[in-house]
Amino acid sequence: MSIKKGTDIRPATGKLGVLLPGMGAVATTFIAGVEAVRRGHAKPIGSLTQLGTLRLGKRTENRAPKVSEFVPLAKLDDLCFGGWDIFEDNAYDAAKHAGVLTKEDLDRERGFLESIRPMAGVFEPSYVKKLNGTHIKSGKSKLDLAEQLIADIADFKKKNGLDRCVAVWCGSTEVYKQPTEVHSTLAKFEKGLATSDEDIAPSAIYAYACVKSGVPYANGAPNLSVDFPALQELARDRQVPLCGKDFKTGQTLMKTILAPGFKARYLGLEGWYSTNILGNRDGEVLDDPESFKSKEVSKLGVLEHILQPHLYPDLYKDFCHVVRINYYPPRGDNKEGWDNIDIFGWLGYKMQIKIDFLCRDSILAAPIVLDLALFMDLAQRTGMHGIQEWLSFYFKSPMTPAGLYPEHDLFIQLMKLKNTLRHLRGEELITHLGTEYYD
Ligand SMILES: NC(=O)c1ccc[n+]([C@@H]2O[C@H](COP(=O)([O-])OP(=O)(O)OC[C@H]3O[C@@H](n4cnc5c(N)ncnc54)[C@H](O)[C@@H]3O)[C@@H](O)[C@H]2O)c1
Repeated sequence: MSIKKGTDIRPATGKLGVLLPGMGAVATTFIAGVEAVRRGHAKPIGSLTQLGTLRLGKRTENRAPKVSEFVPLAKLDDLCFGGWDIFEDNAYDAAKHAGVLTKEDLDRERGFLESIRPMAGVFEPSYVKKLNGTHIKSGKSKLDLAEQLIADIADFKKKNGLDRCVAVWCGSTEVYKQPTEVHSTLAKFEKGLATSDEDIAPSAIYAYACVKSGVPYANGAPNLSVDFPALQELARDRQVPLCGKDFKTGQTLMKTILAPGFKARYLGLEGWYSTNILGNRDGEVLDDPESFKSKEVSKLGVLEHILQPHLYPDLYKDFCHVVRINYYPPRGDNKEGWDNIDIFGWLGYKMQIKIDFLCRDSILAAPIVLDLALFMDLAQRTGMHGIQEWLSFYFKSPMTPAGLYPEHDLFIQLMKLKNTLRHLRGEELITHLGTEYYD
């Protein structure tokens, strides 16, 4: 939706609840990290809302406030965490199981983490075949389950004296599904909930419950969840912001940094082969071909959109793009991603680039969860609702309205995000034209 330049933004007073459907590696690394930062044990590395600045006006003006001072974001001290999981472990035990943070780091925040216990989840084994959850709601229908989630949200808000909530899906990747008739309108979707339509995924039930409760919803996984017309209709009715899909971390982050560089220099691409070894629960879930299919679709779209083969057939027509994820338990959350990139330059002479990224998935994802929670809350207090394309920066597969292709280039995404913030505060957008310095 369009929003007026320099619009009024409701202040971030009171506490903000961050609801996390799925409290595994990413969610617990995020919670433990925020607590460590609040207590002065660590710095919020990787978070634009905490460390970013943005330039205002001309280069000669030397105005570069911190993002957190420029727009009214909720303070870390005002965040309160909750969520759902299909296992009963509290956030300390779940984080220990995930094996991302050291025992020493976790023990420093132990009391706080132990106090965070997930509410029982909504789960259907056919959507995540590798998990057998035990902490699960039962209900007469999917509508009944949605109503239980709505009651959970209201309880959580009341018990913790919260002013508002946001939700970020950090649950496992569900099997690949395309929208069907039941996703096409809100009326059909609500009817489908009542009849427990098999095409309605558990993640979509959470999304429905959140949006219905007026809670902005960001989807960190590639599954449908909110990316279909029925939920967008509900978001419009309830004036709730939405965004997704699939946190942009690791290999895809590197792709959306490098590919714009190749295109900027008109270097051709013959092929890009990406493979990963990963040993955490996410890796185990993605070992199921149907869950992997959701991930693959999300990962594959990136290059096609950045490189625009239809505009540059000599450079990018028919390049070969392969993505693999191999579940390899010894590696835990410390993924290794290899890329072999076959490029070509002047007169078609070939070159190769090899990348070996020894990354930590949840370390890269945690600051994204924080930024999304704070920006989605800002969006709601600003009166923005529906798809928040300005947050594409954080996603592998950014949501867009039907018929509009997503912007994948990380640098364009960043400019879009910062220009959106400038616009909200009534500042001039930065176009980089720069002619005024020569007048
Ligand atoms: N870590 C990254 O860099 C990254 C990047 C992009 C996307 N993601 C996505 O983020 C999600 C979380 O990743 P993770 O590494 O934390 O995985 P994880 O397996 O450690 O955590 C997922 C949690 O979700 C729970 N869960 C599954 N179905 C649920 C349901 N219906 N309701 C409630 N809880 C449910 C699982 O029990 C588990 O605790 C995954 O979908 C992953 O693909 C992660």
